[in-house]
Amino acid sequence: MARSQGRAWGQTARPCAFGQLTPPVARPLLATMPRVLVLLAHPVLERSRVNRRLLSAISDLESVTVHDLYEAYPTLSIDIAREQALLVEHDVIVFQHPFYWYSVPAILKEWQDLVLEHGWAYGAGGTKLRGKLTLNAISTGGPAQAYRKEGYNRFTVRELLAPWEQTANLCGLRYLAPYVVHAALKVTGESDIVTPRDGYRRLVTALRDDQIDLERAARAENLADEIDAVLAPREVA
Ligand SMILES: Cc1cc2nc3c(=O)[nH]c(=O)nc-3n(C[C@H](O)[C@H](O)[C@H](O)COP(=O)(O)O)c2cc1C
Repeated sequence: MARSQGRAWGQTARPCAFGQLTPPVARPLLATMPRVLVLLAHPVLERSRVNRRLLSAISDLESVTVHDLYEAYPTLSIDIAREQALLVEHDVIVFQHPFYWYSVPAILKEWQDLVLEHGWAYGAGGTKLRGKLTLNAISTGGPAQAYRKEGYNRFTVRELLAPWEQTANLCGLRYLAPYVVHAALKVTGESDIVTPRDGYRRLVTALRDDQIDLERAARAENLADEIDAVLAPREVA
């Protein structure tokens, strides 16, 4: 494992940027088509009901790179340089995964701990991710009504993703609302997932083509519920 390249928290004299304000960074105008990187984290994709089908909705799209983390790193031995190069090459970073314990599967946490290095992703000189867009595309076992203040999970998915949102903020990424597909166990065949698949393809295509209302997408709770509004052409004054 490339752990030696990782930073041991608390064992360094380098200043830590946590707690310092990261000023919002305007997204630069892009001369070329934005490129989307989908970082897929599913430990048993062959048994997936939702993620496998969401993936098949976008995998043929041009300028979209799908990177299957469990396939690339079955022992979680993450190649930091390779991951950082992929991030630099893309303008939009989508983390696609099932919701595990109100968070991400283990490999994504490992990825986060190792790849987002001080001086590279954040802190002094850590500007490599600035201005890029990011979001989580998530499947949950629980139904939509469980992810409310009054529901049995007590928080919305977006609220539970606060550490991802703040990580993005710290690294100067623009964080968009998650695209959440609920009640995965109710998906028994293709016909149960037509709308979420279609919405995901439209979303990723619009991100690639810079055809998205970013302010609205940043404010939303679940992009899957607001896909038409977020992708609506902007009004011209
Ligand atoms: C280890 C583990 C933890 C899970 N934690 C949650 C959870 O916190 N919330 C939830 O709604 N579903 C949870 N689930 C259910 C998964 O989110 C669900 O099986 C998955 O989203 C289905 O996606 P797939 O069809 O692509 O496999 C968990 C499942 C596993 C195996």
